[in-house]
Amino acid sequence: MTDKRPILFFDSGIGGLSVLAPARALLPAAPFVYVADNAGYPYGTKSELEIAARVPALLGRLAERFNPRLIVIACNTASTIALGAVRHALDLPIVGTVPAIKPAALASKTRVIGVLGTDATVRQPYVDRLAAEFASDCVVLRHGSAELVDAAEAKLRREVPDPAVFARAMAGLTGQPGGEMLDVVALACTHFPLVEAELARAAGRPLSFVHGGEGIARRIAFLTQGHVWPEKPGAGIAIFTAATPGVDSLVPALRNYGFEDMRIL
Ligand code: DGL
Repeated sequence: MTDKRPILFFDSGIGGLSVLAPARALLPAAPFVYVADNAGYPYGTKSELEIAARVPALLGRLAERFNPRLIVIACNTASTIALGAVRHALDLPIVGTVPAIKPAALASKTRVIGVLGTDATVRQPYVDRLAAEFASDCVVLRHGSAELVDAAEAKLRREVPDPAVFARAMAGLTGQPGGEMLDVVALACTHFPLVEAELARAAGRPLSFVHGGEGIARRIAFLTQGHVWPEKPGAGIAIFTAATPGVDSLVPALRNYGFEDMRIL
């Protein structure tokens, strides 16, 4: 019997598409539902309390509505704050997205790495723990940028973001003590891989960028080993939690990621 249950990806906006793309490449037969909580966007400037109250409740509703086989919280902010609570509340596998500090430390030659995320993510104890466990011999520079999240959203709406945004984001890391030695940057917000080329250009010198997308795809493949996929997965469904004016201009980008069917929750 075929199993039509989708894999549900969740983010505050379109950033989670950077995590979805490698998962779809690895599991082409899997049906996907992508949920952007644009009613709650942005998450990165919200308090821990707001995220902790909003995300588990919303994912509970979404789990009931779409009966997914697995949920991917494709958002570092939501994962570093609410992953534990979501796993506690829901009886299905939950994959989180947390800053790629381990791969960054493995790749760094200078032992100075950067964590570029949202303001909320870079201040999380979860990040302290990752740094202590995987990068204890590195200087870990952190920088939070809300305008970079907006720039990634704008790019997917086919607007041209102001290049100064990328320069400011990079300077937020390289301008810190030790920043001249920085060689690897963990893109710790799922929106940021969508503007990696712009960040690389703004850096003005060769830097490596890492993020969790490929690792998450492998994790999903592992957790769904032996699953039966529908013969035709069909076009993915993209759900938005509010009918904001920008939503319509995301249609072409969503199509590029395999989402033909767009709905408001
Ligand atoms: N994409 C999200 C992340 O990975 C958050 C962006 C936002 O809403 O501020 O952190």
